[in-house]
Amino acid sequence: MKAIEVSAERKYQITFTDSWSRELKSLIGGRQFVILTQTSLRDRVVAAFSEDSIVVTAEGEQQKTLANFTTLLEELAHRGLDRNSLIIGIGGGATTDLAGFLAATYMRGIDWVAVPTSIAGMVDAAIGGKTGVNLSSGKNLVGAFHSPAEVIIDFDWLKTLPNRELRAGLAESVKCGFISDSRILELFQDGYERNLAAIIHRSVAVKASVVTKDFRESFEREVLNYGHTLGHAIEQDSNYQLAHGEAVSIGMVFAAEISHITSGLSRDLVDLHYAILKGLDLPCSYKKDSWENLISLMGRDKKRRGQAIRFVSLLAVGKTDRIEVESAKLKEIYEATVGR
Ligand SMILES: NC(=O)c1ccc[n+]([C@@H]2O[C@H](COP(=O)([O-])OP(=O)(O)OC[C@H]3O[C@@H](n4cnc5c(N)ncnc54)[C@H](O)[C@@H]3O)[C@@H](O)[C@H]2O)c1
Repeated sequence: MKAIEVSAERKYQITFTDSWSRELKSLIGGRQFVILTQTSLRDRVVAAFSEDSIVVTAEGEQQKTLANFTTLLEELAHRGLDRNSLIIGIGGGATTDLAGFLAATYMRGIDWVAVPTSIAGMVDAAIGGKTGVNLSSGKNLVGAFHSPAEVIIDFDWLKTLPNRELRAGLAESVKCGFISDSRILELFQDGYERNLAAIIHRSVAVKASVVTKDFRESFEREVLNYGHTLGHAIEQDSNYQLAHGEAVSIGMVFAAEISHITSGLSRDLVDLHYAILKGLDLPCSYKKDSWENLISLMGRDKKRRGQAIRFVSLLAVGKTDRIEVESAKLKEIYEATVGR
């Protein structure tokens, strides 16, 4: 599959390969390196690289803490990594976020490589140079923009990805379809299982193009938040029982319904949201009685401006806008659509 280029504060390539380890070895050359990976992937990494080049960290969000981050910085120093060394993150979005942040800060910034192993990692987290960890006050509150030297995508990783993670990750691809690429929507309608590689490749191209235009999230990149305003609030309201992609699925349906009412998005396209997301077994509704908490969480969200809440709206496939909607109106739409 054709490599995709990103041009941000540096130029880098997203490579598609059937052997991530071969690709990685040729990229490393003679440089000193350390691989950061999560427990469940350790054995597959050990099969390709010597154990003493690997640092194993906790699964998922548990690894994205400041405490773990400082422990790992000490580990890098202990191993004698210098400014020419390479940090390699192999894992889901949590691992690549952490590996990237280590690389952004160690010795004021060294090179890193992302080897994403989840759908969310491939189509979203590993691309765009946002790195960081969580605080107890909230997710991703500490971080830095620091693009990788390369992103290596090998679909073979997906064989062990739990099905729920796979489907939730694909919510971001559905988003890429609606905001930018109608072909992705056709591929979903044709069946995501048989079109998975093409869906991922095209989604990567969408994200790469957006971050190339707006690396530091001034305006253009906000389009990637389609479905995320309510999605983030639902994720928190559910106490993270709903996966990010599941919450974004509900958020996208809500954004589509708002767009239909306020911006003239056709009913057919709203219905296409339901059809594709339900086809992935993703949720399209949420508790009606959570509204007061959801609106207060959205109010705290950084996308808020004044009294109204700011949304990315959809006018047609590939055509987006930004709208501000009063909370009373939002409540009305929520209760009539996704609220159950
Ligand atoms: N930097 C960005 O721009 C950006 C964008 C989106 C999301 N993110 C971050 O990415 C994270 C979400 O990514 P995620 O959904 O990949 O979550 P994750 O990294 O927590 O991985 C999800 C689960 O899947 C497991 N897993 C991953 N790959 C596997 C594989 N091949 N086989 C078996 N199990 C596997 C992980 O161990 C974990 O339990 C969040 O921390 C989020 O903040 C960052």
